[in-house]
Amino acid sequence: MKKGVLISFEGGEGSGKTVQIKRLRDRLTKAGKDVVVVREPGGTVISEQIREVLLSPKNIGMAYTTEVLLFQAARAQIFREIVLPSLAAGKVVLMDRSRDSSTVYQGMVRGFGVDLIEGLNELSTKKTYPDLTFLLDVPVETGLERRNHTSKMDRLDMEAREFHEQVRRGYLTLARKNDHHRWVIINSQQSIDAISERIRDEVRARKIV
Ligand code: TYD
Repeated sequence: MKKGVLISFEGGEGSGKTVQIKRLRDRLTKAGKDVVVVREPGGTVISEQIREVLLSPKNIGMAYTTEVLLFQAARAQIFREIVLPSLAAGKVVLMDRSRDSSTVYQGMVRGFGVDLIEGLNELSTKKTYPDLTFLLDVPVETGLERRNHTSKMDRLDMEAREFHEQVRRGYLTLARKNDHHRWVIINSQQSIDAISERIRDEVRARKIV
């Protein structure tokens, strides 16, 4: 069924995903590829509404179980509406966060367990894994500093420092296990150019585009 290529970007706050996704999109588009860029949670009218509920600082009282299910609901919608049809049409889909965000934030850090969350991921993605996942790894201190310069705080950004440390460790654990041989860990303290060259090399080396 799947003919296109799915590439996801993961990492904690201020890891620099967005700028790298833009660069890869431009590079691939110049090379004549049909590229679709989406972010999670979000990316469709329904998923953006769910995003608003999830991230609004007003919803400080949200139960963790609600959070788990809303992230999956937003994911189910974007896979159904955008990701799966784009892959079926042979496009390259670049995702700013996807299933691994839930595995780390909800499965590992919130403590729901990797197995439960992976089960829900299977449901919401219709058993679709990225072909390649870049983990942009940055020390928590650096990431939070970068973020403070660029954006306002959402509900999850306001978590304590230890939360962000757990997120970082969770990602590294997952990426080092490297199930499905799709993870590439990149030190995101390097220059933007160095990171984007590494990403280009990995994409080329795997001949996925
Ligand atoms: P966003 O502003 O997109 O964060 P970032 O710029 O860091 O990517 O907000 C998404 C937040 O939601 C982020 O803190 C990570 C969190 N998240 C989860 O906890 N679970 C998930 O499944 C997803 C997709 C995101």
